[in-house]
Amino acid sequence: MTAPHTPPTGYRDAPLTDWHPDRPVDFAEAEEFLRACYAELPKLGPVEPRLAVVREQIAALGTYSHTHAELVHGARMAWRNASRCIGRVYWRSLTVLDRRQHRVPDQIFDDLVSHLHTATGEGHNRGKLRAVISIFGQAVPGRPVTRLWNDQLIRYAGYRSGDGMTGDPQYEQFTSAVTRLGWTGKGSAFDLLPLVLQTGDGEPRLYELPESAVLEVPLAHPEYGWFAELGLRWHAVPAIANMRLSIGGVDYPLAPFSGWYMGTEIGARNLADAHRYNQIPVIAARLGLDTSSESTLWRDRALVELNRAVLWSFERAGVRVTDHHSESRLFLTHVERERRAGRDTPADWTWIVPPISGGLTPVFHRYYTEADQRPNFYLDRSAQHLSLTATTPAVTVPAQRTAPEPRTPVAAEPARCPITGQFAAAPAADSAAGRELGSPADGLDQDDLDFDLDGLAFDGHDPQLVDGVSRPPATQAEPAGSAPAPIPAEPVPARRRGLRRLLG
Ligand code: ARG
Repeated sequence: MTAPHTPPTGYRDAPLTDWHPDRPVDFAEAEEFLRACYAELPKLGPVEPRLAVVREQIAALGTYSHTHAELVHGARMAWRNASRCIGRVYWRSLTVLDRRQHRVPDQIFDDLVSHLHTATGEGHNRGKLRAVISIFGQAVPGRPVTRLWNDQLIRYAGYRSGDGMTGDPQYEQFTSAVTRLGWTGKGSAFDLLPLVLQTGDGEPRLYELPESAVLEVPLAHPEYGWFAELGLRWHAVPAIANMRLSIGGVDYPLAPFSGWYMGTEIGARNLADAHRYNQIPVIAARLGLDTSSESTLWRDRALVELNRAVLWSFERAGVRVTDHHSESRLFLTHVERERRAGRDTPADWTWIVPPISGGLTPVFHRYYTEADQRPNFYLDRSAQHLSLTATTPAVTVPAQRTAPEPRTPVAAEPARCPITGQFAAAPAADSAAGRELGSPADGLDQDDLDFDLDGLAFDGHDPQLVDGVSRPPATQAEPAGSAPAPIPAEPVPARRRGLRRLLG
């Protein structure tokens, strides 16, 4: 499928943050988090002794390390505070995979693959998606940071050919850059992009996701047989990978999180936006709509059919998805529950209101407070730059984990600074966190309900679990080159030794 390339215009850029890994931890922020966390979880006991320990650690080492319980609850609080996410009613159900000790790129890649397996569900549960976050090592002043360049774990390549595009135009630059790094795409409209991992100033390494880790849903329509001929599909798991998790003053630069889709993210944005797959004119033509005037509302009619196709196809494939009407109601349930718990729910109206039928949903008809409450997730300028361009000042030849064929080393990309942000390409509004949902999971499933939803009716489906698309699992080859050791060699100063005892 080829879509004409239309440059994005007029959409809102995500506000970006600037952050430096060497920033020391602020005790006040640690204290604020710990007091809130221990107040919410009485089983953790009194906070004062813990505060004393943390105060000492910060004074001696410039940082402190979270207990497992603090990490888990901190991640859930971060989701609860994510003001763009409509799916926050599920915040308590977040599965936290503690990967803080894992620093070697190959091991991180394996963890990302198991994240996808856990999030997707396995065996009978495949398609029964769960909200999951994998949390890798915290930032420590003076220590190298491991970065994943991709904005999501699963995304499709975009290729320009003449004045047309194949695939996702949002990833055109990223695709060209990874191609220069030695990756070869098939050139289809839905080629899975490789993951790019980089430790400190080390070489970026490319990893192909095994196809068994990526569940996809081919799209068809409940009434229009021709719809399947469009060859559209989408991946089941949205997994945001370039946002920094910030808990109590400690930053986790690599903490990918995933949930499940609200249909409009795919049907009203990814496949519909003129600067993405731009399918509205194609569908309108197949529907035989009168496109001679805007007032026929041909765009709106095509959009509704595309969104019906998305929801119907996911449900038919047994892949968890939610619709914007149900999710809007659940969001207001969440706001009310939070109010009763004595908490405000910061929300960004422009992201919470769905991109279709806004006024038909209850979230449209009110305002929200917009506080930046912590813990939270942040999109840093440098992370966004990497996700859009896959370029850094010094790009070198990658290790290829699952190369189906030998790769030819390629010339280095000319230097471009990720900090000064000199990227010409259009930053896409939903490149990092999506239009509607800035954080994990939306949708509803009985398994998530470790709390009562006030008797709110919900359309809980117990789908026949079907592997939407089965592809043979990719064979894993050993990586070329050995992984760099991220920890400096002995001897280390006392402060460093203390850090190592504390953080591993
Ligand atoms: N809107 C983004 C996308 O289409 C995903 C953002 C996160 N969404 C979610 N349901 N957790 O890929």
